[in-house]
Amino acid sequence: MTHPRYRVPVAPSLATVLAENDLAMDSHSWAASCVDTARASLRTAGAALVHSLADRLAVDGWVIAALPAELPEELLRRVAAGILAAVGTPFFSIDGGHGLWLEGLSRPERDPNSFGGFAAQALHIDAPNVTAPPDYTSLLMLRPDPAGGGHSVLADLRAAAVLLADDDRDVLRQSVFFEGRAEQLHGVGEPLLPFPVIDNGLPGNTWIRWAGKLLTDERNIGYRPALKRFAALLEGTAQRVRLRRGNLLIADQRRVAHGRTALGRQDDIAPSARRLLCQAKARFDAAAPVHQVLDLRSAA
Ligand SMILES: [Fe+2]
Repeated sequence: MTHPRYRVPVAPSLATVLAENDLAMDSHSWAASCVDTARASLRTAGAALVHSLADRLAVDGWVIAALPAELPEELLRRVAAGILAAVGTPFFSIDGGHGLWLEGLSRPERDPNSFGGFAAQALHIDAPNVTAPPDYTSLLMLRPDPAGGGHSVLADLRAAAVLLADDDRDVLRQSVFFEGRAEQLHGVGEPLLPFPVIDNGLPGNTWIRWAGKLLTDERNIGYRPALKRFAALLEGTAQRVRLRRGNLLIADQRRVAHGRTALGRQDDIAPSARRLLCQAKARFDAAAPVHQVLDLRSAA
């Protein structure tokens, strides 16, 4: 099977090793002993994968690791946690009661535009309204939409910001924006409401706190024209990919917004056959294998 450049295959031999780990948690973070075990495996059996992940994340800010699709769900979750440990410390920001991976079985009773909903989900970063948004977000596909919809959408926040007119950029730098409520989240600092869409951080470390829902939040009504123009620029950078079973999408939230196209018609699909996606976050860690590779390269 050929792979587009953004899809990096995970060798079955590496998956077998990573699947031996468990998903023990220490509060909302994956247990340090599990992280260490996974990273030791990545540095030996997974060195080629680590380099491929580093390549794609450096260029695009996102990558898909293609795990062996035939693995059962529980093993896919374990292997995916191990691969996520290549970029940072895996954790959950939303406690869904199942540990590291938040389950998102698509259901009609969910907000149609949110995780697990049936409709399209506008481009966004996860938790834009807190002081420390997750450095990485990840999505593990356990069952794609049988109706053929629900493609993932990825867009380049920095490329869009560069194209903004100066006066729009000045508007988006003001700390006046509201999106949702930052409640009952873990590992992401404190609520930050209102917040600037374009943060005045250090170059290369700037957050672009984007969420398509900014456009519909009444609290932002005075700034809607600038928000709409940024949304259009961001849409112009968007790429669509269909995650297959076992695909783990990792996105660097400082660079990439993510979203979803609408699912196909669900009328004839049994609830247990519907699209099933899981999400977990990762906190930047300089000791993670991908960052060690990138540091060595920048020093060379
Ligand atoms: Fe999200």
